[in-house]
Amino acid sequence: MSLASDTGIATSAIAIVTGAGSGIGRAVALRLARDNYVVGSIDLDEEGAAATAAAIREGGGRSTFARADVTDSAMLANAVRYIVGEAETLEIVVSAAGIARGGYVHKMSEDIWDQVIAVNLKGTFLLAKHTVPLMLRSNGGAFVAISSDAGIMGAVGYGAYCASKHGVIGLVRTMALDYGARGIRSNVVCPGFVETPMAEKIFAGAPDGTMQAFEKSVPLGRFGRPQEIADAVAHLASADASYANGMVYVLDGGGSAGHYIGQARTAMI
Ligand SMILES: NC(=O)c1ccc[n+]([C@@H]2O[C@H](COP(=O)([O-])OP(=O)(O)OC[C@H]3O[C@@H](n4cnc5c(N)ncnc54)[C@H](O)[C@@H]3O)[C@@H](O)[C@H]2O)c1
Repeated sequence: MSLASDTGIATSAIAIVTGAGSGIGRAVALRLARDNYVVGSIDLDEEGAAATAAAIREGGGRSTFARADVTDSAMLANAVRYIVGEAETLEIVVSAAGIARGGYVHKMSEDIWDQVIAVNLKGTFLLAKHTVPLMLRSNGGAFVAISSDAGIMGAVGYGAYCASKHGVIGLVRTMALDYGARGIRSNVVCPGFVETPMAEKIFAGAPDGTMQAFEKSVPLGRFGRPQEIADAVAHLASADASYANGMVYVLDGGGSAGHYIGQARTAMI
């Protein structure tokens, strides 16, 4: 673990972001730093987390980072303790660490199933387990988890991922009930495809034209950008969303709004 800030960590509001070494998590970390939080980036990929912390510092922000596997309770607890330091309080927690592994159920190994559920669902639970006590000590806070449009509908060939992301929604909505009265707001963001290394990997292994077909299925005609997801997370974490609790914020360019047959339909307007 490495401390990348020597200024004011004990007296400033702290935000922790898992999966901050890449993609959506990195964009969230950078955005929260711009909103003046001291951002603790947690990732299995230490280089990625360090690069995010360095980018925050270059932009004039304050940051710490720690390598941790979100499926390892003790390691994650240490990372949280390290980031929070003497402050012993925490205002914002964002669960963005995740993996996507495909496979039809009848062909999927139990290992793949366990891995996906462990990172996406148990990882979100463990993060909540180790951070909620600190937010209670702060007399409130905001927990935001990144689920997926696969958290609200099926995803061809991605049964484990889909189940994990549905689970995240159930977990976070229950947290909204359990901790709302104690001032902790818990919300979920469900992106459609977003331009990140995860999406690149998914389409790299798919037949030609798959990505274009998916893009065409989005009424806005394109995938999301990490920054667009980060802006929504920052909003939900901010006082501007002071009445948002237990919300499932679908951010998918309209992809799940209904059956969409693209130009054939819009040509009729
Ligand atoms: N990119 C998309 O199209 C998309 C769409 C919907 C939801 N999501 C979700 O958004 C979140 C972020 O995804 P992304 O697209 O930025 O992916 P990404 O692969 O770019 O980043 C994921 C990060 O999580 C980290 N990570 C993976 N396993 C970990 C573990 N066990 N412990 C700690 N860190 C770990 C990785 O090292 C990586 O830095 C994920 O939960 C993903 O399921 C992504």
